[in-house]
Amino acid sequence: MTDTALVTGAFGLVGSATVHRLAADGRRVVATDLDTPANRKAAEALPVGVTVRWADLTDPTAVGALVDEVAPTAIIHLAAVIPPFIYQRRGLAERVNVEATAGLVRSAEKLATPPRFVLASSIAVYGSRNPHTVTGPLTADTPVNPADIYGDHKVKAEKIVRTSALDWVILRLGGVLTATPGSYMKLDNFYFEGMLPTDGRLQTVDVRDVATAFAAATTVDAIGETLLIGGDDATHRLLQGDVAPAMAAALGLVGGLPAGLKGDPHNDASWFNTDWMDTTRAQQLLGFQHHSWPDMLIETSANAGIKRPLLRLVAPLAKQILKRRTAYYGTGQRYADPWKAIEKKWGDPRPDGDTA
Ligand SMILES: NC(=O)c1ccc[n+]([C@@H]2O[C@H](COP(=O)([O-])OP(=O)(O)OC[C@H]3O[C@@H](n4cnc5c(N)ncnc54)[C@H](O)[C@@H]3O)[C@@H](O)[C@H]2O)c1
Repeated sequence: MTDTALVTGAFGLVGSATVHRLAADGRRVVATDLDTPANRKAAEALPVGVTVRWADLTDPTAVGALVDEVAPTAIIHLAAVIPPFIYQRRGLAERVNVEATAGLVRSAEKLATPPRFVLASSIAVYGSRNPHTVTGPLTADTPVNPADIYGDHKVKAEKIVRTSALDWVILRLGGVLTATPGSYMKLDNFYFEGMLPTDGRLQTVDVRDVATAFAAATTVDAIGETLLIGGDDATHRLLQGDVAPAMAAALGLVGGLPAGLKGDPHNDASWFNTDWMDTTRAQQLLGFQHHSWPDMLIETSANAGIKRPLLRLVAPLAKQILKRRTAYYGTGQRYADPWKAIEKKWGDPRPDGDTA
């Protein structure tokens, strides 16, 4: 049987890097995603050894045909509707994040030689994390307690995979960043990050290291493992409020982002769902941590090229404009409250059945 990895969400942030990693390792890859003009354009630049199959994973017939025809030895399931867009499209998100995962798993189970299934989950499964009251970094054994639909969908998807007849590996990702952030610099993302408590803990990770982890998870002896994927403990354990300004400064926008608000030490529910993670087991099995946070900043800066001095010039103006567009501008609020801010801007983030 030919070794073939089927990658869903193959044209997203993690998917693109994963497809490139697998192809560079000499693996046969089938990349699948929605048939959109942007994805068709990106498909033209794919490396040798990668085949593209367009499919909407919410269509069970398309999923069945895709899995049957590709007959993969491994499926890396990345396709999802993620924050902040998820809060605007609850119904669609549930169909993609939960129902499509079930459809893919059921189709894979029917193959004569069922593939290994590697699921992209998230540390959002753990829910709000007040650094003043929680202890220790997150581990695979920390109880899940989702605070929003995203974390809730990931808990449900994990359960579908864990209770399937397939060999599985689950990767719970931290804050994935790229040293080529161009297309990810959207106003919605700035706005979203500005809602989060600046003193909330976040373990970041370079998308290329995430890709290495996914590629390794398809072959190494890790079946039945739930692994936490974050960058190295020494440099990637950051505070939320340090991340975007450092990335912006690396691009040239020095001091160009307005400062956000800290979280309320006395309100556990008003913190976002990120924290530092124990990545020891994941690193031992997958050996994926290759890009430190300072190296990412240096590379981001080099990639920005001639745009850097221009961005440096407009930084003070950018700060004034962006300040007026932050979630808490003019509210007089002392502390950040991301869930309330998300509800006001995009829609109720709470899981179904938790909206009383
Ligand atoms: N980026 C992060 O920081 C992060 C953190 C934790 C977990 N994750 C998880 O990692 C995975 C990849 O995340 P990403 O940042 O690359 O997201 P992304 O939004 O960049 O990519 C998701 C891809 O899924 C595709 N998709 C959406 N609906 C689909 C459908 N109906 N049929 C087929 N394809 C569809 C999209 O077109 C997109 O290309 C997701 O499962 C996400 O939840 C990401």
